[in-house]
Amino acid sequence: MRHWIIAAAAAAIIATPTVTLAQTPIVIKFSHVVASDTPKGKAADMFKDLAEKYTGGKVKIEVYPNSTLYKDKEELEALQLGAVQMLAPSNSKFGPIGIKEFEVFDLPYLLPNTAALRKVTDGPIGKRLLGLLDSKGMTGLAYWDNGFKEMSANKPLRVPADYKGLKFRIQSSKVLEAQFRSLGATPQVMAFSDVYQALQTGVVDGQENTPSNMYTQKMHEVQKYMTLTNHGYIGYVVVVNKKFWDGLPADIRTQLSKAMDESTAFGNGKSEQENAEALAEIKKAGKTEILMPTADETLQMRKAMEPIYADMEKRVGKGLIEEVQQAVATASH
Ligand code: LMR
Repeated sequence: MRHWIIAAAAAAIIATPTVTLAQTPIVIKFSHVVASDTPKGKAADMFKDLAEKYTGGKVKIEVYPNSTLYKDKEELEALQLGAVQMLAPSNSKFGPIGIKEFEVFDLPYLLPNTAALRKVTDGPIGKRLLGLLDSKGMTGLAYWDNGFKEMSANKPLRVPADYKGLKFRIQSSKVLEAQFRSLGATPQVMAFSDVYQALQTGVVDGQENTPSNMYTQKMHEVQKYMTLTNHGYIGYVVVVNKKFWDGLPADIRTQLSKAMDESTAFGNGKSEQENAEALAEIKKAGKTEILMPTADETLQMRKAMEPIYADMEKRVGKGLIEEVQQAVATASH
């Protein structure tokens, strides 16, 4: 009898962790570098809400905004190692891990508007680029928008000569490096979380970013001038660790994909408005003079940067650049 009781108790103890395990939600750590109050931050929070709802709580999404978990370079390494499951790095940040093709989005004045961008990301080019991520242990789930970039510094930036000799913070993209070199400026790769302080202390003179990123990082407080160049674009690739994703039960993957599709539509539908609001806030703060380039100034900028296209063919792929140009040319305006 005693033996029986001990055996039953032991079986109960052994059985308990199994029961607990079955109820433990699958945790997805989603790390990103911008504030929650930005297009990416809001889309990530929306994904969390929808994913937890559609999976009935079987999946828990932990969103870590503002580089609280990892900075730019570390976050991609962490994803490959499985320390974090989901990220949304900008297109400009995949070069250092060996995928240079996403830098095509950094070519200056390539994308005239969101419709042209959409034609690229939602068509065969976008699909093929996502496929490149597989060999790096990642699965690409979606393209998220931020918006078009503006230039800023403590002196007015109108024509290429204004950039000469200045130091600009850039994301880790060779195309962006070539862009600032074509203007006679010195580019410096730096993590997003370090930009405010670098501008404040004069480690760099200027930077390029979207109004929402500038406003939420308070860059406008340490930059006297901002020129609405719209010369380039910042957008994101939502990536998940491939082994983790493939290992999920099929029904969970389906529910997460639905949550991803809906949060993508939500975020991309609001990003233009959010950047317009951030620009209005920057104006209201009154610390930054906003300059609108004239047609002639834009022409001068385009001309100075034009040689980058030929220089970057080897890095990004001549065929890919031409394909994107073709898609842009046929996009509705
Ligand atoms: C930057 O580094 O400037 C941006 O890519 C940050 C971001 O994620 O929008």
